[in-house]
Amino acid sequence: MSRGNERKPTSTKAIVLRSVLALGLALGCVNAVKREDFKTCAQSGFCARNRAYADLAKDTPQWTSPFQLNPSSLRLQKGIISGDLLNIQEEQLPASGKALSFELHLLDTEAVRVRINEVDPIKPRYDGVQDTVLIRPYGYSSEGQYERLSKDDNGVLSVKYGSEGQNTVKITSAPFKVEFLVNGVSTVILNEEGLLRFERLRNKEAESEKLVDQGAQGEQEGEIQIEKSALELKLEENLWDERFKDNTDSKPRGPESFGMDITFSGISHVYGIPEHATSLSLKSTRGPDAPYTEPYRLYNLDVFEYEIDNPMALYGSIPFMMGHSKNSTAAVFWMNAAETWIDVEKTNEDKASGLLSWIKTKKVTPTPTTKTHWISESGVLDVFVFLGPTQRDIFRQYASLVGTTAMPQSFAIAYHQCRWNYNTQQDVAEVDAGFDEHDIPYDVLWLDIEHTNGKRYFTWDDAKFPNPADMQLSLGAKGRKMVTIIDPHIKKDSGYHVSKQGTELDVYIKNKDGDTDFDGWCWPGNSNWIDFYNPKARDWWASNFNYDKYVGSTKNLFTWNDMNEPSVFSGPEITIPKDVIHYGNVEHRNVHNLYGTMFHSATAQGLTQRNETNQRPFVLSRAFFAGTQRYGAIWTGDNTATWEHLEIASPMLLTIGLAGVPFSGADVGGFFGNPEPELLTRWYQAGIYYPFFRAHAHLDSKRREPWLFGEPYTTQIREAVRTRYTFLPFWYTLFQEASVDGMPIIRPMFTEFPEDEAVFGMDDQYMVGDALLVKPVTKAGVTRSTVYFAGNEKWFDIKDYSVQQGPGAKEIASPANKIPVYQRAGTIIPRRERPRRSSKAMENDPFTLVIALDSKGEASGKIYLDDGETFDYQSGDYLLREFRVSKGVLSSHDIKPAGALAQGKKISEFVQRVGGLRIERLVILGSAGLKTVRVGDRTVSVSCVKTAGNHVCTVKEPQVAIGEDFSLQLE
Ligand code: NOJ
Repeated sequence: MSRGNERKPTSTKAIVLRSVLALGLALGCVNAVKREDFKTCAQSGFCARNRAYADLAKDTPQWTSPFQLNPSSLRLQKGIISGDLLNIQEEQLPASGKALSFELHLLDTEAVRVRINEVDPIKPRYDGVQDTVLIRPYGYSSEGQYERLSKDDNGVLSVKYGSEGQNTVKITSAPFKVEFLVNGVSTVILNEEGLLRFERLRNKEAESEKLVDQGAQGEQEGEIQIEKSALELKLEENLWDERFKDNTDSKPRGPESFGMDITFSGISHVYGIPEHATSLSLKSTRGPDAPYTEPYRLYNLDVFEYEIDNPMALYGSIPFMMGHSKNSTAAVFWMNAAETWIDVEKTNEDKASGLLSWIKTKKVTPTPTTKTHWISESGVLDVFVFLGPTQRDIFRQYASLVGTTAMPQSFAIAYHQCRWNYNTQQDVAEVDAGFDEHDIPYDVLWLDIEHTNGKRYFTWDDAKFPNPADMQLSLGAKGRKMVTIIDPHIKKDSGYHVSKQGTELDVYIKNKDGDTDFDGWCWPGNSNWIDFYNPKARDWWASNFNYDKYVGSTKNLFTWNDMNEPSVFSGPEITIPKDVIHYGNVEHRNVHNLYGTMFHSATAQGLTQRNETNQRPFVLSRAFFAGTQRYGAIWTGDNTATWEHLEIASPMLLTIGLAGVPFSGADVGGFFGNPEPELLTRWYQAGIYYPFFRAHAHLDSKRREPWLFGEPYTTQIREAVRTRYTFLPFWYTLFQEASVDGMPIIRPMFTEFPEDEAVFGMDDQYMVGDALLVKPVTKAGVTRSTVYFAGNEKWFDIKDYSVQQGPGAKEIASPANKIPVYQRAGTIIPRRERPRRSSKAMENDPFTLVIALDSKGEASGKIYLDDGETFDYQSGDYLLREFRVSKGVLSSHDIKPAGALAQGKKISEFVQRVGGLRIERLVILGSAGLKTVRVGDRTVSVSCVKTAGNHVCTVKEPQVAIGEDFSLQLE
């Protein structure tokens, strides 16, 4: 039996099932996820209760929220509005009936934060997510940046804010509602549907006494007991301990969930809330025609053989959602790391302007609206609202809270070769040599769990890898790196130094008694899990990466963090029980979705502070949350070698990027199963446009290094991988942009063409930055693809420079050796066109600028270069330049701040060297034909080829350097 399915089964039935699955895989069958391992909303007490509340609201004519703000308590001071929020049906509440606190913060970035919390709860509610997710305390809008408009008798308080005063927040007291308007148009509304519900903490004993008491009194006084409806009864189900399959969640604090609806008014497309294997534009989960019946779930889980087109939870969670229409863009970030479910419902009903029936009779186009319902198990209701006005503003506003992507080392954006497992040092050497032999560039070779001594991380299987440091050095000699896997479960073994020290330092997650170490089953057998909430644990963990502690590691070795949801084979839903305890007596329930990120961050800290410092870390993680981008890359976990999985990878990666984590990829080739050569080739052709580009395969899958399928596949894959390398300067520049202003790297069409409704639901083609249009081929046997060319400008094929005119869809040839990829007119892309064996080997190569002129004869683009390894760029040691064509002149200049020079420092050796690299070629597309190029008095010859509808003009050796200011006259 394969070790690929060696998860410790909890019962004989499970053993049989796993065996059947493994056999299916071996036979190449496509398996389905074991849905019964994972909860539905109905099986999750708090989700069921909050959904029942929504049903109750729907079933109740004239439903209004019982929550009201006490108008006399409302205050606006120093950018904060606060007040007391009361539930007027107090008698329905089992607890004290005290008010909730309401706060609305006007941030200096124009974002708004709304917080609803319990006042004086019997135990503090968990409010620590902000400490790990927000990068720094934010500033408030100062008085003068907002204007209090009115507080009328109905208790409506309106405040105008935003740089142009374009935004208004209108707080209605009764029923409680918070409406956000942009230029007077309603855009985001909190609690419009009245679904706000807040379970106060209560005391189990007192509650059961009260119930007994009430029963007795009722009988004594002969009171008429009002029958509760089935829905009302549902609101009281599963309040305390809750069973799912073989596990009971003890829920010592009882029910503490909350929910609220958020309306995106006038907006029919919403995006985000990764990770789900679904479309970019989210589908309805409620309403008569809803394609899904379950809400989208956010709960980091290791879902074996996940299904596509499904709102089930996966490995990562980011509660960020963006809504977009032709007229507006808005987003919300629901800052909560507990299990969360989100219902989405699309309607055409427009409450503000009248009834649907009226709209129908008058044949007025109804305003589409998306209503969402957010439900979290515990913590504090804490939501940020971003009104842009543009998407770029929203990305910046969100990034100013949760941070931007860390600038990776340059090797990290090149090609990674992985499989479970490369078996021996000899195997590694042969695979490495195979790339050279077949002239396929690659940068990183990965080792999965089998390289260790019995799944004891930070160790090596000495028989298979006798000289790990030498192995890394020989890769390093070719400019290549290695990555090894390090998971968060630590084999219980007093002879294993990490396990022993972990016990001595007392850094493991505790059982619900808060005292004994939790243990469970994972790859190594019985294991403990490090508590990354403990600062001591984090520091100790980080120190394990020091070269003297991680014996056999060198500066060429980087890290892969897997199984960090965390995956616990013996646990409920294959994860850790919710009632285990972290440092500071924090129940895991509150922080589940952040656990993987805490691990990722401690590992990145370890690589950063290895004895030899000043090297940027590289850590790949499977679990993620908002803020993960600060620590490294993520991938979409265990996909399958099918065309459907290739297809779903684009929307999944686009969604993750929108939610602030741009450095992501999917296993090229598909993890489970064996791709036929055509699928593998098509996957490479798509994968070279993933920000993180790695091939990976399951232990049981056949070997599939790119040359193993023979011709024409080897040539086709070589061609694809080389294309990635050609575009590395462009990718690196996009990473820099993402690291500064939070822009996604691969972007949905609607991000670049926000006014073109035809692209709002499009996710089978996308943009890389603002310049490249990519349309992966995701079906067998396809040689023609329909590509939508947005905008009114031309698009140039990146290989043969043939031209297409937008707007409109066209059928384009997509023969086996290429997928449609086009450069947008008006852009300039820097490339490096000499094939080499690694990105490091290209670092002194000259550049080509591909200049795609728009209809006005203009174009612009950027290049960012730094040493690709160290943190020196943070003190200005980089080049960031802009190229621009305007009025027939191509110019190059520094974008301020221009690195060391701008800061009055000596120009570094790096900037001098790189700045002096020459531009060896200009390719100018979209001109009416050129004759010469003049640089001052010097004339350089141009050769133009006329193709259908396009002149492709090449200027060889214009004798200018990449870091130099120049003006070239294009004539
Ligand atoms: C699960 C990961 O998702 C997969 O990529 C890896 O190969 C296996 N764990 C073994 O480590």
